[in-house]
Amino acid sequence: MDPLTIALPKGRMQDAALDLFASVGLGVAADAANGRRLVFADRSGSAHYVLAKPADVPTYVEYGAADLGVVGEDVLRESGRHVYEPLRLGFGRCRLMLAGPPEARDRNLRLDIGLRVASKYPHLAQTYCLEQGIPAEIIPLNGSVELAPTVGLADLLVDLVETGTTLRENGLVELDLIMHSQAVLIVNRASHKLRFGTIQDLISRIAHVVATREEQR
Ligand code: PRP
Repeated sequence: MDPLTIALPKGRMQDAALDLFASVGLGVAADAANGRRLVFADRSGSAHYVLAKPADVPTYVEYGAADLGVVGEDVLRESGRHVYEPLRLGFGRCRLMLAGPPEARDRNLRLDIGLRVASKYPHLAQTYCLEQGIPAEIIPLNGSVELAPTVGLADLLVDLVETGTTLRENGLVELDLIMHSQAVLIVNRASHKLRFGTIQDLISRIAHVVATREEQR
């Protein structure tokens, strides 16, 4: 049978994602994911893994270059990609927050004409500001968003908070919760129909592992 192609996010969720697939019998050799190799197979040959930038995982899956993928809900919502999303995976938990300097707590942001909000999530930030009636200009950035208020590029930011350390160390505070996020399993819609049995079986096995881990938390 053709191996399933699974897109995994490089970086902070990569090891947890590989560990999850290993727990359902799709583990890789110890050195497979080291170095700079971007494609490798599991030991059984049933799965091919593709390592992609997190923001690109939904694209690989929507276009069918990968049958399945693992990505944060935040990144998935920002991407707007159309994929089947059967399962939350219980790791990579964080929250998307509006944050800024402590003085911002006392400002009425809805009356703050000329407000600038920096974010790696420009679509989610824009949607949030529109929904809240905050007349902000969104400044898209690719990382280290906490710098923006410090150097006067923006007044506020929309970014992920996990432990809160980055905000604290840059003198910033949480202002409003936009969404909770965690890793999700995503599936190409055509693959899900064409390889229904194989993929559904894999989803069930992963769901079982996730549920068992949740009970042990
Ligand atoms: C993420 C996020 C925050 C930080 C939050 O950045 O964008 O900067 O982690 O984590 P904390 O609350 O535990 O401090 P990442 O490390 O992915 O790097 P980047 O900002 O360069 O994208």
